[in-house]
Amino acid sequence: MPFDEAEVSRHVPQPAAIFGNKTTRVGVIGLGYVGLPLALLFSRRGLVTTGFDIDASKIEKLARGESYIRHIPNSAIRDSLDSQRFHPTHRYEELRHADAVLICVPTPLDAHREPDLSFVRATAEAIRPYLRPGQLIVLESTTYPGTTEEVVLPILERSGLRCPVLPYASASATADSHSTDVVDFFLAFSPEREDPGNQQFRTHEIPKIIGGVNGPSAAAAAALYGQVFDRTLVVSSARTAEMTKLLENIYRCVNIALVNELKMLCQHMAIDIWEVIEAAKTKPFGFTAFYPGPGLGGHCIPIDPFYLTWKAREYDFPTRFIELAGEINTAMPAYVVDSLAQALNRRKQCLQDARILVLGVSYKKDIDDLRESPSLRIMRLLEQRGASVDYNDPYFPRLHKMREYDFTHLSSVELTARTLESYDAVVISTDHSIYDYEFITRHARLVVDARNATRNVTHHRQKIVRC
Ligand SMILES: NC(=O)c1ccc[n+]([C@@H]2O[C@H](COP(=O)([O-])OP(=O)(O)OC[C@H]3O[C@@H](n4cnc5c(N)ncnc54)[C@H](O)[C@@H]3O)[C@@H](O)[C@H]2O)c1
Repeated sequence: MPFDEAEVSRHVPQPAAIFGNKTTRVGVIGLGYVGLPLALLFSRRGLVTTGFDIDASKIEKLARGESYIRHIPNSAIRDSLDSQRFHPTHRYEELRHADAVLICVPTPLDAHREPDLSFVRATAEAIRPYLRPGQLIVLESTTYPGTTEEVVLPILERSGLRCPVLPYASASATADSHSTDVVDFFLAFSPEREDPGNQQFRTHEIPKIIGGVNGPSAAAAAALYGQVFDRTLVVSSARTAEMTKLLENIYRCVNIALVNELKMLCQHMAIDIWEVIEAAKTKPFGFTAFYPGPGLGGHCIPIDPFYLTWKAREYDFPTRFIELAGEINTAMPAYVVDSLAQALNRRKQCLQDARILVLGVSYKKDIDDLRESPSLRIMRLLEQRGASVDYNDPYFPRLHKMREYDFTHLSSVELTARTLESYDAVVISTDHSIYDYEFITRHARLVVDARNATRNVTHHRQKIVRC
């Protein structure tokens, strides 16, 4: 039922009063790598949390106390279920009970490498029938500046409720009672800064950036997140918060491209880039180490920068750094394959018909996430050049069909001395900690190492080609 504007008072209570205590009921939409840990965090901290996902199989698993994300143990799900403070569901009707709704759905690129906001739009549409005065909606998905105000807000306002875009000073967001009078519901953006598998920083230890569509919205979100995050930082608009997240990811993307380019140059100059980085990083200021590799992977770094590139076109403004970084990083899998071909050539072998074993298919070490993994691109390039390819990855016994790749005919081969000896070359694409690189080098005929994973290997180093 759409909301009946005539029935409500436009006067809602001060946000901090509603969202600053444990009685706030939270809804998290999209229980993936980002949404699930967030929902569990809220429930652990004593807030009743409902998790929504359209994937019925995920909801069934969660309801049985089973995790589908490797670094989240079953016990974390069971503890939350047992506490009666975590309730997974696919029924959007239950949103009517939530005081705050946090959106953590995917923001991929479409086939033309343009922002695909269909998940965000569909979620806003699904929320609208249940939107009520005083409710807080927060977009957490990474996106271009303007999405919250230009895409989410108009959809929600079709309910008849209002959340006007109003400037506010970030420091006084909590004290702005005047604009509270003209706000029916609260809307904010708060970027997710999760780094899946990172043991060093737990979700609540990562400062939470918040930008409201107006002061009351920023205050509402700050009160809510302040309950579970060690530190919150309110910035002066939703657009600023959206841009902050993109800056973080573009910074990584550009710096990784820089070291990738320098790695290729160093190769020509017979200089070890890894040694250079270790030396440079002893500088106590002004230098942050980034490391070269076989290319970018994951749901964020290869994708998010292009959200900004797309938006910048509206301003007729070229994002040259992003384009160049994208070009260099995208070329890295081909560079690995060329390096392998040259190494085989030196042994009077050719890549065509060679048997190649790729180690590690996830996009980074020790996680079970394949999205945009450069290993998959390397495998496809190898096949295109006539090699016969197998892989090993302890996190992926089999590979499911993906939009761009179909390696369903392969399964992870066992890493025994005999198997290793049977391949013409082994390519280390993802440096999982579980691998015994000494053993691998001892038994492989040739090791092409795109991660410097073999740095501590002491024997048979002549077999190693770093690229
Ligand atoms: N994974 C990361 O490391 C990371 C880090 C920071 C930010 N982000 C951003 O967070 C967002 C989510 O990423 P993720 O990695 O958690 O994605 P994900 O694919 O792991 O999870 C998204 C979930 O949303 C569900 N979903 C899709 N549409 C839905 C709808 N209409 N209603 C309910 N559920 C729906 C999917 O079924 C899925 O379970 C993206 O914008 C991403 O860029 C991700």
